[in-house]
Amino acid sequence: MSLILVQSPKGGVGVTMCAGSLAMIIAKSGATVTALDLTGQDSLKLWVGVRPEQVVYGAAPHAKDIMLQSGVRPVSVGRARPGAMQSLALVDAVAIATDYAIADIASDDEDTLNALMPRSSLCLTVLSAQAGSLALLPRALERAGEDGKVVFVVNNVDARRRVAADAARMVAASVGDRVTALIRHDQAVEEALASLEPLPLFAPLSAAVADLTALSGCIAKLARRPAARAPAADVG
Ligand SMILES: Nc1ncnc2c1ncn2[C@@H]1O[C@H](COP(=O)(O)OP(=O)(O)OP(=O)(O)O)[C@@H](O)[C@H]1O
Ligand SMILES: [Mg+2]
Repeated sequence: MSLILVQSPKGGVGVTMCAGSLAMIIAKSGATVTALDLTGQDSLKLWVGVRPEQVVYGAAPHAKDIMLQSGVRPVSVGRARPGAMQSLALVDAVAIATDYAIADIASDDEDTLNALMPRSSLCLTVLSAQAGSLALLPRALERAGEDGKVVFVVNNVDARRRVAADAARMVAASVGDRVTALIRHDQAVEEALASLEPLPLFAPLSAAVADLTALSGCIAKLARRPAARAPAADVG
């Protein structure tokens, strides 16, 4: 199993959207993917086609295991934030039955991030092309350290908005070839969520899905070579 962590020092930047949509896209290539919600928000399932009222508590003795038609297995800790130890136990529990586990980690949960980092093949740090996310860039860089398996994704890129375009360039200048993907701001993302449909099924031709699909290709390569650095993205 390849464990892929998706996280950010800043909340609300699209971590869960990326984790869920990537799970769907990677599963489409034939791999089995576990979408592992460690946030205590129980919202990752909404991005892989599970309804809000449907319970997907996983890896507990009473768990009702769900494998979706898409090849994604949603596993959630429900609404109680797990500690680092419980997160490790969950990762161990899902490891046998899956090619990829994509873990959504809450922005302020550094304990879980640190506990899972040694087990992971890749850690995606999601930043938003917005001033608030940029303010936390130094913290994101500190968290990443020199670890080559930590790569950066800039979400909400919008060439028409000055701050967004500048923000994408600024991140690229700061982290260099560790920017693995730019994901465009796209109305289809919100529309998919509002429709309770996974984004790649709701809007397969959307700009955001094109960008996430390109990212999934990088992930497949990087996850096989955990020590490798990410290719540079063209920020225009
Ligand atoms: N590329 C995008 N284009 C348009 N809307 C987006 C994009 N990415 C995310 N969003 C929207 O931004 C909101 C926040 O996304 P998401 O819940 O994935 O963020 P998060 O980082 O997981 O937040 P939290 O810290 O609360 O867990 C959602 O309403 C989502 O639909
Ligand atoms: Mg989230």
